Amino acid sequence: MMAFIDSKRFIKRLNQINELDPKSSLKGVNRIALTQEDKKARDQICKWMRDLKLKIKIDNIGNIFGFYNFNRNKKPFLLGSHIDSVKNGGRYDGSLGVIGGLEVIQTLIEKDKVDHPIGLAVFTNEEGVRFAPDMMGSWSFIKKENINKIYKIKDNNNVNIKQALKKINYLGKEKQLFFLPKNFIELHIEQGPILYNQKKKIGIVKGVQAITWLKIELFGESNHAGTTPIINRNDPIKIFIKISEYIYSLSNKKNKQLITIGSIKVTPNQINVISNKIEFTVDMRNPNDKLLTNIEMKINKFIKRLCKKENVNFKINKIVNFKSVNFDNKMNQIIKKHSDNLNYSNMYIHSGAGHDAQMLAQICPTTMIFIPSQKGISHHSKEYTKNIDLIKGVNLLYKVTKDLISN
Ligand code: HGY
Ligand code: MN
Ligand code: MN
Repeated sequence: MMAFIDSKRFIKRLNQINELDPKSSLKGVNRIALTQEDKKARDQICKWMRDLKLKIKIDNIGNIFGFYNFNRNKKPFLLGSHIDSVKNGGRYDGSLGVIGGLEVIQTLIEKDKVDHPIGLAVFTNEEGVRFAPDMMGSWSFIKKENINKIYKIKDNNNVNIKQALKKINYLGKEKQLFFLPKNFIELHIEQGPILYNQKKKIGIVKGVQAITWLKIELFGESNHAGTTPIINRNDPIKIFIKISEYIYSLSNKKNKQLITIGSIKVTPNQINVISNKIEFTVDMRNPNDKLLTNIEMKINKFIKRLCKKENVNFKINKIVNFKSVNFDNKMNQIIKKHSDNLNYSNMYIHSGAGHDAQMLAQICPTTMIFIPSQKGISHHSKEYTKNIDLIKGVNLLYKVTKDLISN
């Protein structure tokens, strides 16, 4: 296959980043945002940026930007993604877009003597598993929230963002939105089964669906499991079962409504003690913003009514609410043109997963290129994409970037 990029260098770096933490390669990748594992990967990428003489700028949420030809009066073309992962996550989610973007920039500098300002972004905390919301770094970069409010967000160990950034020495001085990109393009694995099932090598991404995350707490009364009579019990688990049954009844294929109860925490979580609290999260996605809002209202209404009837206290906290976005048609036509020229089978696709591009699309022309995920598995140690497919993705990213910066 014709490779325009240095495929060996790209694959070697991708492996290097994933093997930085030896234990992670056995059970997937563990680069939770703002941990030492995240720091190790960040430091390695900054080293590669310095070797390439890119000008490194770090902003006040720890987003890393490496620029070639940075020029305050000329908007840079931006590539990038994220390097943080979920627990026992995959080797390609995010890192493909960062390492692939670095490879494209190095090829453009070395081979094409490009002089247009280009940048590589490594966005902080895209996954949101330690600090919510997800896409936090790119959300902060586009100035959707006051940085001092974001700094106060805490993890389960009561550590806040600012402390965590300081601890890994990535509390940068650049302000939110300290520059405006000309375009943004993110190369990413699909993380779903569509390209794999349709045997297509490239996904031209038309947009990303809307996402809402809720954190729900139900309160009860702890007591002895063996002595407390049924009528005297105030057991929140019983209410949780009814609520979860209702919530899952709302997800259906027809209206493309996806719902996931991904985390559940019971206190005191002991076999012979009636719990006094259950806290759980609801991840809801839909390409249609209005439908998603309706689902959220139905859930709120059901919980309010049931808890009133059962005399149970509850709390519902909306921790994420990102609207659906459409990507740039002109950029997608260029991706289509080069995919066809390269003979890479391709199709238009919508993204089920959230991405940093969902944020950047709100400030500049943005799109994404997907490559297949084996069996559609992702957010899992078994996430896998063949090297040949990875290289095709970076090849295409190179051709599209070169086209976009020269026009
Ligand atoms: O949750 C998502 O869709 C993304 O992986 N953060
Ligand atoms: Mn990702
Ligand atoms: Mn992810």
